Amino acid sequence: MTAMPDAPASGLATSSVPAAPSVLDLAPVVPVVTLYDADDAVPLVRALVAGGLPAVEITLRTPAGLDAVRAVTRDVPDAIVGAGTVLTPRQVSGALDAGARFLVSPGCTDGLLTAMLGSGVPVLPGVATASEAMALLERGVGDMKFFPAEAAGGVRYLRSLAAPLPSARFCATGGIDAARAADYLALPNVPCVGGSWMVPADAVRAGDWGRIERLARAAAAAGGTLPGAPEPGPVNSAGAPCR
Ligand code: 3PG
Repeated sequence: MTAMPDAPASGLATSSVPAAPSVLDLAPVVPVVTLYDADDAVPLVRALVAGGLPAVEITLRTPAGLDAVRAVTRDVPDAIVGAGTVLTPRQVSGALDAGARFLVSPGCTDGLLTAMLGSGVPVLPGVATASEAMALLERGVGDMKFFPAEAAGGVRYLRSLAAPLPSARFCATGGIDAARAADYLALPNVPCVGGSWMVPADAVRAGDWGRIERLARAAAAAGGTLPGAPEPGPVNSAGAPCR
């Protein structure tokens, strides 16, 4: 479970909505949204919510990011919007001021982690290796983002971490698409996946919210098959099934 401090760091504004216990438990599939025009945020997130994906990460990698978080927080009460690509303590403050209800980073530094843990909202710091995951576990953080998932070893790597690091849970993100999502979600240590496959840039540019809603519905259905999915069997340290 992600470490949850009792109170926000002083001077940091938070939403009046109670924080969720962990980002990983919000939804099995979290869209990762990067916008160049903040005016797209509200109709886009409404389409995602209508398609069954209420938890949405809006990245801060464009100048429109914070305004997009602010607009969705104000106008789409059914959404749970968080800020992604949080790289600095200053961005932590900016995201909270905009109303972000969770924070996600692609990697982690000591300074950023301290700011994230002081935010009072659920956080998902990023890791890509066993050592990075162990460093977060040492700080009391068990829930993390695994990024870039496909490039960093994908399903086989995460499966290999389950035995040595049983208290680590991951949101796998980076290079995941509709076809790959179910394989990640079948892992015991991956309660959710993130990705941008349901928000294609051309659909956003065209304002094709109907297409995004359909893609969201398909992604939500992939996550919804989780309870019936077969449990993976035991694996060896290389991630291969034990016979
Ligand atoms: C992220 O920040 O999590 C990724 O950019 C999302 O990865 P994807 O665009 O490859 O899905």
